[in-house]
Amino acid sequence: MNTKKILDTLKLYKQEHLLQYEESLTEAEIKNLCTQINNVDWNFLDSLNKPKGANKSIIQPIDALSIKDIRRFEDTYRSTGLNAIKEGKLCLLLLAGGQGTRLGHDKPKGCFNMGITKEMSIFSLLMENTLKVVKEADTWIHLYIMTSDINYDDTTSFFEEHNYFGYNPEYIHFFVQELNPSTDLNGKVLMVSPCSLSLSPNGNGGWFSSMNKAGLLTEIFNSPIEWINVYAVDNVLQGIADPLFLGATIESGKMCGSKVVRKAFPEEKVGAICKENGKPHIIEYYELSADMRYQKNEDGSLAYGFGVTLNYLFPISRLKETLDYKMPLHVVKKVVPYIDENKNLINPTEPNGFKFETLALDLIHEMDDCLVFEVEREKEFAPVKNKSGVDSIDTARELLKKNGYEL
Ligand code: UTP
Repeated sequence: MNTKKILDTLKLYKQEHLLQYEESLTEAEIKNLCTQINNVDWNFLDSLNKPKGANKSIIQPIDALSIKDIRRFEDTYRSTGLNAIKEGKLCLLLLAGGQGTRLGHDKPKGCFNMGITKEMSIFSLLMENTLKVVKEADTWIHLYIMTSDINYDDTTSFFEEHNYFGYNPEYIHFFVQELNPSTDLNGKVLMVSPCSLSLSPNGNGGWFSSMNKAGLLTEIFNSPIEWINVYAVDNVLQGIADPLFLGATIESGKMCGSKVVRKAFPEEKVGAICKENGKPHIIEYYELSADMRYQKNEDGSLAYGFGVTLNYLFPISRLKETLDYKMPLHVVKKVVPYIDENKNLINPTEPNGFKFETLALDLIHEMDDCLVFEVEREKEFAPVKNKSGVDSIDTARELLKKNGYEL
């Protein structure tokens, strides 16, 4: 196989090392490597050199619908939401393509067993939450599940083995997101074998274009579906297809909705919802200045006090208009396995490289406005991010117990 052309491309991006093992590879292995290299959109490397904070933006607090306000109109919201679900206006998207490197589980995060004396996987908990609404609305809701090439087989077979957790499999649609190469801290693409690049899922923001590539949008556009509820795999207590949330978002007339929790303390490491140049925006905890972190509203609450739980409602009509929008890539420092100069696979324990990810929060910014919908922290926010400590298996188990689950 002639690799000269590929080498020229690699030279352009200072990545010639990717062909360093060429002489020891079989024809089939070279072909595999070249296919991987040809599939790369090398512009991803530009995001390494983007100046940070170059854009001047005006950040302001955003109003939220508090739990108290929600309770006042609970009946109206619930009936609006339930009716919309009965009319087939809602579908669901479970973001399950992440690698869960912080949890360090060797299977997809959704397969992790939260049970102690019995099996209670994260997927089973999420499906149980969804089934509650399916029963209440007396209708199946289309559920899209995003995986990556890396965890597709494990995820689909887990669902199959567990009989889809009682869900109607005709309403479950799996699809895969794209992969991006990972680099070392100097921007050189890492390899996991002499004939394979280190590839990882391209973040949780590109799901709409991945659904498009998977050919799923035509059926959505030709259906009564108007809303998509997008949520993370790792919040084991979250309300999915929540009629209250959907009803309140519809009644508010706002373009999208985001579930939030009140920050436990001003320094808490969660993204806070706010406005940037008048548009809904999520500001990372480390981007908040000290003044903003402690800034108060007139009633004494924190001005930037609502953290996002990664549970959103987006309108299909607006998403359709964003299909040409190129999501920005965020450079995230993470643990990336690689082969060393002796071709040994190294599994680092500390972050050693960069992954390139699109983020769901950039899609929020494409919406004109957003209903910020407060949920009870103790009842709806139990993220499983880490092995131990904050937002870990232990903290999530405690919260499950507090909510009546027997583990
Ligand atoms: P996280 O940002 O927590 O990433 O994902 P992660 O990959 O699961 O975990 P770490 O950071 O490696 O420990 C938040 C949500 O977005 C999904 C995850 O599956 C989770 O539901 N996600 C993340 C994707 O679907 N694709 C991705 O490429 C990244």
